[in-house]
Amino acid sequence: MGPSLRELGLNIVAVANQKGGVGKTVTTLNLAAGLARVGQRVLVIDGDPQGNLTLLLGRRAAVPASPDAPAPASRARKPSPHDLSELLLAIAEKKSVAISGFIEKGVRRGLDLIPSRNRRMRLELGDTEIRAAASGFATLLARLAEHYDWVLMDTSPSNGPLERALIAACEAVVIPLEFQLFSVAGLEAILSEVRECAVDHGREIRAHALVFVKAENKVSRIDEYRKVFARFRLPVFEICRSEYVPRSIERRKTLWEAAPASYAARDYSRIIDKSFLG
Ligand SMILES: Nc1ncnc2c1ncn2[C@@H]1O[C@H](COP(=O)(O)OP(=O)(O)OP(=O)(O)O)[C@@H](O)[C@H]1O
Ligand SMILES: [Mg+2]
Repeated sequence: MGPSLRELGLNIVAVANQKGGVGKTVTTLNLAAGLARVGQRVLVIDGDPQGNLTLLLGRRAAVPASPDAPAPASRARKPSPHDLSELLLAIAEKKSVAISGFIEKGVRRGLDLIPSRNRRMRLELGDTEIRAAASGFATLLARLAEHYDWVLMDTSPSNGPLERALIAACEAVVIPLEFQLFSVAGLEAILSEVRECAVDHGREIRAHALVFVKAENKVSRIDEYRKVFARFRLPVFEICRSEYVPRSIERRKTLWEAAPASYAARDYSRIIDKSFLG
């Protein structure tokens, strides 16, 4: 199984795979919420300009009230005014950064969020800005991580300078994928990207675990796939295919909120116990 992240003293973790739709966002959400549920303080970062994780976890801006509507009884907690793209831009432009303006505190108990709401992130942040921001962002994240038990980052299905800068700021990578022959090439690609990020930035980044999502024993040749992936010598976890996953997502809930007794929740708990807290 290998040592846990806690044993290794690593607490900044990216959930990454360049392939789309393999369960990165669902895995980030439920690992983060599962860790918070057992009393860990967690910062989640939505590193995907699509902002899916922000949609699931973040606060929505209040609908402007009509002038004659009654005043709200208490001041609603607002979404963070700034998002990750603005943070990266501020770092690239060497502006002084008050990090609290970028964090939505307590989106769930024990869970804070740096949101992404900017689908134009890639356009607004040119390669030069991203390169300029990369090392400052890594330093800032390392400092922030001292205030949390875990920092978890969702990433986008891409491998441009933005993804590299985000991965380079992490200490370990958890890779969700599906049991398919195509996943082998995808896995090789993300492992080599992680190695390149580590070399480029002169730091170690640990490929920590593979998480096969939507695992079904009836998939033909599953034992053959298990053997194929064993050659990567990484701890392997499986999250069963479960209708509760899409259902919980539709309701903008974590599995712990929507279906804590589901097999999928049990499978995420196992990763948390063995691979994070162990
Ligand atoms: N264990 C599971 N059982 C059933 N469906 C699942 C499971 N895990 C994920 N899914 C579904 O798979 C789809 C893709 O999941 P998700 O959005 O997390 O992938 P992603 O890698 O983040 O995608 P993208 O690359 O677009 O960001 C979603 O519809 C989700 O509900
Ligand atoms: Mg996603």
